[in-house]
Amino acid sequence: MEKQTAISINDLNYTYPDGTCALKGVSLEVGDGEKVAIVGPNGAGKSTLILHLNGIISGGEGQVFIQGQEVCRKNLKVIRSKIGIVFQDPDDQLFSPTVFDDVAFGPLNMGLDEENVRERVKQALEDVRLSGFGERFAHHMSFGEKKRAALATVLSMKPDIIVLDEPSSNLDPASRRQVIELLSSLERTMLIATHDLELVLDVCTKGILLDSGKVIASGELEGLLGDEALMTGHNLEVPLSLTLGLRNEVTPRPMPHA
Ligand SMILES: Nc1ncnc2c1ncn2[C@@H]1O[C@H](COP(=O)(O)OP(=O)(O)OP(=O)(O)O)[C@@H](O)[C@H]1O
Ligand SMILES: [Mg+2]
Repeated sequence: MEKQTAISINDLNYTYPDGTCALKGVSLEVGDGEKVAIVGPNGAGKSTLILHLNGIISGGEGQVFIQGQEVCRKNLKVIRSKIGIVFQDPDDQLFSPTVFDDVAFGPLNMGLDEENVRERVKQALEDVRLSGFGERFAHHMSFGEKKRAALATVLSMKPDIIVLDEPSSNLDPASRRQVIELLSSLERTMLIATHDLELVLDVCTKGILLDSGKVIASGELEGLLGDEALMTGHNLEVPLSLTLGLRNEVTPRPMPHA
């Protein structure tokens, strides 16, 4: 059976109302179960692209399909149950009086009973190292704590596809490591936009380089991020772990006997 395409974008163009042209003919596909990184300099269009995936931004030219269904008004409810997006700015995600309410919002909307909702909230807060933060007011938390709470609001829904915009920004090293381990262990389709190239090397297998609203290159992630001319040509750097050859999973050859 042919593998289903989780995300399919076909010739997407988008210009903001002020005339800024953010996406110029973007086409890409993410297969079911794949973990794909989107990298590119500031202003490349990564966040604009992500906001098209569940219809938060629309009205440009081109088409976006999630699990074969076009992202359009009549499909939004079902699409938003399939794909969860963690926004770049957590203040766009957190709006309830308490962290518990924010993380419970999705599961409650899905019609889960109270016990199940509590279980999901507990697990999601544990996953992002925020156990005990349920009664806190999100807007009085640190930026890194808010980032983790925003991730929990998506984890608690257990969507088939998880899209993350800068998931590690402002996280302390231990929290970042936990997020990396969590994302690596979750068997879901993922699309991750980030400047944390070591994070995506740990989590993803494929990559897409976006710049000035266009897909510049795509393919196997280590090959993409290891291409020095390509990286420096687009305000990026080859990650240190690749420069130092720390990721070569080649089994060392036995030393010849003296
Ligand atoms: N609301 C907006 N109105 C007008 N222009 C915008 C708006 N949001 C973003 N842009 C512009 O669209 C382009 C793409 O921005 P976008 O935020 O998608 O980039 P990005 O790749 O996510 O960057 P970063 O790495 O800084 O997060 C940029 O030129 C940006 O200035
Ligand atoms: Mg962005």
